Amino acid sequence: SDGSMAATPEDGVRRRDFINIAAVSFAGVGGIAVLYPLINQMNPSADVLALASIEVDVSAIQPGQAIKTIFRKQPLFVRHLTPQEIQAAQAVPVGELRDPQTLEERTAEGKTQWLITMGVCTHLGCVPLGAAEGENRGEFGGYFCPCHGSHYDTAARIRKGPAPTNLEVPEYEFTSDTIVQIG
Ligand code: FES
Repeated sequence: SDGSMAATPEDGVRRRDFINIAAVSFAGVGGIAVLYPLINQMNPSADVLALASIEVDVSAIQPGQAIKTIFRKQPLFVRHLTPQEIQAAQAVPVGELRDPQTLEERTAEGKTQWLITMGVCTHLGCVPLGAAEGENRGEFGGYFCPCHGSHYDTAARIRKGPAPTNLEVPEYEFTSDTIVQIG
């Protein structure tokens, strides 16, 4: 399943922790099932998985693609929205939402194309599908939780199903055009 093994970290990838490199190498391939074995294989300490903050190089993530990585021992999604996905999110009347938030409130100023959320369903904590290409994003085009059928839209806001709130947006900051520091 995995042509990405040939991928090598590009120049400029920071080496402070391997999660950055994994994130770049797996851009567009995605799949927590792929990333976890890599982490196992590299046998990082629990400290690495629990890093209080990580840096992700987003330069290789094309519109419509996403990566999954690990932040504070939990899945984290970094998704590059397409113009259509941005439009779809902005077209929703916010007052009708269960957990009302605009796309702008859930993204960094001037960077509505970067949707960064925890990959943890707010119902009972399963990992929703849809971050990676080809997965089932559900009927609202964002994420779909296979456990009990919660649907999230392209801003990862809860739209249908038992989950009470939107996927959580962690604290983050773009430290350059392509590097985002999370946490
Ligand atoms: Fe996601 Fe129940 S854990 S719908």
